Amino acid sequence: MRAADIADDLTEILVTQEEIHAKLVELAARVAEDYVGKDLLLVGVLKGAVMVMADFARALPIDAPMDWMAVSSYGAGTRSSGVVQIRKDLDTDLHGRHVLIVEDIIDSGLTLSWLLENFASRGAESIEVLALLRKPEAAKVEIDCKYVGFDIPTEFVVGYGLDYAERYRNLRDVAVLAPHVYA
Ligand code: PRP
Repeated sequence: MRAADIADDLTEILVTQEEIHAKLVELAARVAEDYVGKDLLLVGVLKGAVMVMADFARALPIDAPMDWMAVSSYGAGTRSSGVVQIRKDLDTDLHGRHVLIVEDIIDSGLTLSWLLENFASRGAESIEVLALLRKPEAAKVEIDCKYVGFDIPTEFVVGYGLDYAERYRNLRDVAVLAPHVYA
């Protein structure tokens, strides 16, 4: 669905499907150039990164396997606690691999901070991060993210993989959720 289909639930469109796709093509070209001659492994963080991974991986002009990790950092609350639980681990041995973590959003940065440390301890040769969205003003820890799509304000955003109570992930655009939906 497009933002126009659920206009009453949204207050503002931040990034359109077209802008997302153009940005992912640009980032894919950069990544392909940076990993020439290297064995690249894409790691998606479920569930939010599904859309980014699907479009980014297909925009890549080089072959790259994908693996997936499911973690939970929010528990029952709405704010990241920094305490991360692995719900589904990788199938791949990271030893000696060049890993690119693919994320939908960096909010507090706590999830990625934990993942970066965890992956480093598994002996990855290199680890970089690609995030479609980043909320710079929400950062609790600084994440060295090499490939960033868009910096956005600290608002409650949904779409393109991002949810509110599992809803709106299939919205094609990224938009601000109207307060009446969650109030
Ligand atoms: C979201 C998002 C990141 C994380 C970012 O996942 O996909 O993994 O939060 O937040 P942080 O920078 O504050 O740690 P979430 O835990 O909501 O799970 P989901 O991907 O299944 O929606």
